[in-house]
Amino acid sequence: MSEYEDVAAVGDLPEGEMLGVTLSNRQPVCVYNYRGTIGAVGNLCTHAMFHMSDGVLHNDGTIECAWHGARYDCRTGAVRRHPAEWPLPVYEVRVADGRVFVGPEVSAPEEQAS
Ligand code: FES
Repeated sequence: MSEYEDVAAVGDLPEGEMLGVTLSNRQPVCVYNYRGTIGAVGNLCTHAMFHMSDGVLHNDGTIECAWHGARYDCRTGAVRRHPAEWPLPVYEVRVADGRVFVGPEVSAPEEQAS
C-alpha cells in the first residue's frame, strides 16, 4: 500500500461530510463519506479553483461548489452542473484499521457538462 497515503481517521469523516487534505506531492484532495462509502476527488473546483471540501455533499451524490454552484458526481468526478466544464480527478481510496488512505489518481472521464 506504499502509494497510498494515510490522510485521516474514519471517525473524522462522518456520513455526509467532506474533508480537505493535502498529499505529500501537494495535491489537494477532498475526501468524502457518501452514504457510508469513503471516496476522494480533487479538491480544486475546475471552474475557479475553490475548495470543494468547503461545499456541500448532496443526497444525490453530487458535490456542489460553494462559490458559483457547479456540481460534480462524487464517484466519477463528472460535471453535473455548470459553470464548471471539466471533471474533477478521482483518487483510489482504501480504508483499513480505522484510517483513510488515498492512492493514485483514477483516469478521469473525458466528459464535459451538457
Ligand atoms: S469556483 Fe467552483 S463553481 Fe466557480
